[in-house]
Amino acid sequence: MFYEPRLRNHGLPHDPFKALVAPRPIGWISTLSKEGAPNLAPYSFFNAFSDRPPIVGFSSAGMKDSALNARDTGEFVCNIVLKSDTGAMNQSSAAYPHGVSEFEKAGLTMEASSRVKAPRVKGVAAALECRLTDIVPMRGLDGAGTYVLVLGEVVGVYVDDAFIKGGRIDSAAMNHLARLGYMEYAAVENVFSLERPEA
Ligand SMILES: Cc1cc2nc3c(=O)[nH]c(=O)nc-3n(C[C@H](O)[C@H](O)[C@H](O)COP(=O)(O)O)c2cc1C
Repeated sequence: MFYEPRLRNHGLPHDPFKALVAPRPIGWISTLSKEGAPNLAPYSFFNAFSDRPPIVGFSSAGMKDSALNARDTGEFVCNIVLKSDTGAMNQSSAAYPHGVSEFEKAGLTMEASSRVKAPRVKGVAAALECRLTDIVPMRGLDGAGTYVLVLGEVVGVYVDDAFIKGGRIDSAAMNHLARLGYMEYAAVENVFSLERPEA
C-alpha cells in the first residue's frame, strides 16, 4: 500500500503512522507547576537527540500540563519506564485537571531529584533530570501544527544500582517498555550485541 498522510487516503480504520515508527521509548515526565503542584504523564513522542550535550525531548499535542510546567519552571524529569511500571504509567495518563497529582492517582510516591526541583517517581530504574533548553513548535509544510517539542539538557542522571552489572547498564534486566501503534506496547526482552564493521 501507499498513502499520503495529508490526504488520509490509507483506507484503513486507523492511520498506521505510529505503528510504523515503533517501538518508541516512553518518557514518563514529572514536573512541578509554578505553584509547586506535582504532575506526571507518559509521552512516547520522546527520545534522546544528542549525547554531548545530552539532550532529550518530548512532544506534546498542544500545551498539556507537562509542557506548561516545563515552560513555567524551566525543568522536567524523564522517568524511564520498564514493563513493571506499565499499570501505574498508564493510570498517570488519564486527563486529570491541572493541579491534580497523577502521583497520588496512580498510587505512586515522589522522590527528590538531585539537580532539579521536580521529583522523580520513587522506585524507577532511572531518571533524567533536565533543564529546559527549547520549546519548538512542530510545523508542517503549510506552516500549521499543534504539537510542541519540549527539549532539555540532562543535568543529572539517577540510576538504581540494581541495574548496573559489571560496570554497565544491565539492559537485559531492565525490560524497557515501548509504545507501538494503536493500543499496543512492547517490552525489550531480547538483547544482543553487534560490533561496528571496519570501513
Ligand atoms: C504510553 C503513552 C504515551 C503517550 N504519548 C504522548 C505523547 O507523545 N504526546 C502527547 O501529547 N500525549 C501523549 N500521551 C497522552 C498523555 O499522557 C495524556 O494526554 C496526559 O493526560 C497528559 O498529561 P499532562 O497534561 O499532565 O501532561 C501518551 C499516553 C500514553 C499512555
